[in-house]
Amino acid sequence: MVLFILITLLSVFANRFNYPFFAPANKKTEMANIRIKNLLQSNAIDSIVNVEGWVRSKRGNKQVQFIALNDGSCVGNIQVVVDPNAINEEVMKLVTTGAAIKAEGKLVASQGAGQTVEIQATTITVYGTADVDTFPLQKKGHTLEFLREIAHLRPRTNTFGAVFRVRHAMAYAIHKFFNDRDFFYWHSPIITGSDAEGAGEMFRVSALSPTNPPLNSEGKIDYKADFFGRETNLTVSGQLEGELGAMGLGLIYTFGPTFRAENSNTPRHLAEFWMIEPEMAFYDIHDNMDLAEALLKYCINYALENCEDDLVFLTNLYDKELMDRLKSVVANPFKRLSYTEAVSILEKLNDKFEFKVQWGSDLQKEHETFLVEHFKTPVILTDYPAAIKSFYMKQNDPDADGRKTVRAMDVLFPWIGEIIGGSQREENYDKLVNRMRELNIPEKEMWWYLDTRKFGTCPHAGFGLGFERLVLFVTGMSNIRDVIPFPRTPKNAEF
Ligand code: 4AD
Ligand code: MG
Repeated sequence: MVLFILITLLSVFANRFNYPFFAPANKKTEMANIRIKNLLQSNAIDSIVNVEGWVRSKRGNKQVQFIALNDGSCVGNIQVVVDPNAINEEVMKLVTTGAAIKAEGKLVASQGAGQTVEIQATTITVYGTADVDTFPLQKKGHTLEFLREIAHLRPRTNTFGAVFRVRHAMAYAIHKFFNDRDFFYWHSPIITGSDAEGAGEMFRVSALSPTNPPLNSEGKIDYKADFFGRETNLTVSGQLEGELGAMGLGLIYTFGPTFRAENSNTPRHLAEFWMIEPEMAFYDIHDNMDLAEALLKYCINYALENCEDDLVFLTNLYDKELMDRLKSVVANPFKRLSYTEAVSILEKLNDKFEFKVQWGSDLQKEHETFLVEHFKTPVILTDYPAAIKSFYMKQNDPDADGRKTVRAMDVLFPWIGEIIGGSQREENYDKLVNRMRELNIPEKEMWWYLDTRKFGTCPHAGFGLGFERLVLFVTGMSNIRDVIPFPRTPKNAEF
């Protein structure tokens, strides 16, 4: 009797808290709410399963119908086989492309080609119908341009499912890479009062009335009356605040959104993009290059090992050479050379280029991709002219011709061009202040940045990796607007 009560109590307790050991017998074979990715790999034949997802297609006849169901977990669909005698005809009428449904039934080995398992449905529940005449996604393919106009529905397509799963994997890989190397994730602010890159292409942040802002005695907008008591903007880079973190924690990285109000309508520019900015105390430019190369190779290798189905899908559909290109970048050392050496190669070929090159010119994408093709591997260019780089970069001694360069490093990738920009930082207070004065950068407002050069300054370095440019490279897509869920570009912030 006591034993009976004990068992009853235990089983009630087990059911209450979903403990498997006393679950009722029929639960043993039931796999509820399983993701399709796991189901497709499952060998739990004869289990009762239920899956929820969106209908990709329905076909069949009076004897049998087939629903291809996708839940976003992978590029593959699960095939749901429906016996029209078993499922209400009115329900099946609602099962059209785009509808959200639940299918319950037995998992069986598939009879047809193309999948190993399928579900023999016993119940279909329709959560949400999709009107066949107005649902914009049809079975036939759509252009990427068209899909950009319906960015709210893009995640339902095979292509964007694959791209955004790879994007997720890259974000995860980046955190793992740095965590495994004892870096700390550092959160630089999104609203700042500084212009980190000195390019002045910033979005203002203000809470003042746009129609009737308070004016100062000179008749200009009085930002002292604004929310922060000063002019503020969305950050163009988390680097300067990142440096402050590195000067105490040693090794940090940021990974956040950055904003640039430059009017660049190219397939490689966004007004809002995500950037990864590691900053390392006691690193010189060589350590910096080693880290950049290791990070890129790690991420690409991570994608090859963990996103195979999606990469195969993208390779077949968009870019036959994608997989080979990814493997080749991982396998070969990047070529490192100075800007001056690169210019001496490029100058000889000026006939080929739209923009002619001479020492001092900013390199264009055509030059960057030429170098990558020339060396047949990604290229790291160093020691650029000081005049075309940011104020914070470490100053080299002038060369034999008196030309001034800085310890910059840009990593150039096939097709993409610049994927990483970085440098060793100028740690000498006087040199840094002089450079800021030359460029009219307000040193008063940057007192907190300059303080790091006054108190325990040390050699340090860092770089910025454009996250979307990485995802662009790894997915083989050709427009940066197609690798971020909601692209922000000039005249485009619809969704
Ligand atoms: O070369 P950038 O401007 O460097 C910096 O912002 C430094 N503060 C980085 C650092 O040293 N911590 O930008 C770095 C990278 C570029 O190489 C590119 O990959 C990406 O950010 N990037 C953009 N990506 C998309 N759209 C844009 N408009 C971009 N501008 C830069
Ligand atoms: Mg740059």
